[in-house]
Amino acid sequence: MLEIGAGTGRITLPLARNGLQVVALDISPAMLKILLEKARQEGLKVEAICADMKRFKLKERFAAILITFRTFQHAYTVEDQFAVLNNVKNHLERDGVLIFDVYNPKWQYIAHGNWRWYFDEWIKLPGVEGRVRMDYRNRYDMAKQMMYQEFRLRYKDGKELILPLKMRFFFRFEMEHLLRLAGFKVEKLYGALKKSPFDNSSSEMVWVVRLA
Ligand SMILES: C[S@@+](CC[C@H](N)C(=O)[O-])C[C@H]1O[C@@H](n2cnc3c(N)ncnc32)[C@H](O)[C@@H]1O
Repeated sequence: MLEIGAGTGRITLPLARNGLQVVALDISPAMLKILLEKARQEGLKVEAICADMKRFKLKERFAAILITFRTFQHAYTVEDQFAVLNNVKNHLERDGVLIFDVYNPKWQYIAHGNWRWYFDEWIKLPGVEGRVRMDYRNRYDMAKQMMYQEFRLRYKDGKELILPLKMRFFFRFEMEHLLRLAGFKVEKLYGALKKSPFDNSSSEMVWVVRLA
């Protein structure tokens, strides 16, 4: 299988541990370096490919392609989204499956975004003495369906680091139309990774789709 947006292997490694052959693709060489080091320490065989999900080209086709932990929300424009889905199509076996998760844009989450800092949590970072304070702020642009977020880390020695993150939000029927236009048919929509039904309370959309 191919995992797109594999990051440091949080999902890749358990898959490999369970005997699945995983190709891990990510745009970040730094994330893949950590993934490969973790795989090496466990003696797991994982192939890592550093590429953009909009532009990758591999020789292989896969029985399953996963786009994990909302990575698809980094396809910001409709053009980017079609580029990703077309690429997936070109790398999927005829009866293969694409599984990916995105946020369900609950109004409470969108409305919360007033670009003011909130205390989030104290975190422990490797190689850093004591705990680091993490604050968070976000704002949502209704016209662009974009969520802008920032995480602010405050270290004990006074150092401050701001990490920005932006994500495109999708509505349920928008995604259905997008998938259909890209040549997929929806097999299942779940409301969470534990496969609960998608309903009014769902904070996630987990899409299971195949080639039409
Ligand atoms: C939220 S993380 C998910 C990491 C991992 N799947 C997990 O569950 O921990 C999103 C990942 O997508 C990657 N990413 C973002 N844009 C990408 C792109 N255009 N092509 C490939 N990977 C991308 C990031 O580098 C990051 O590792």
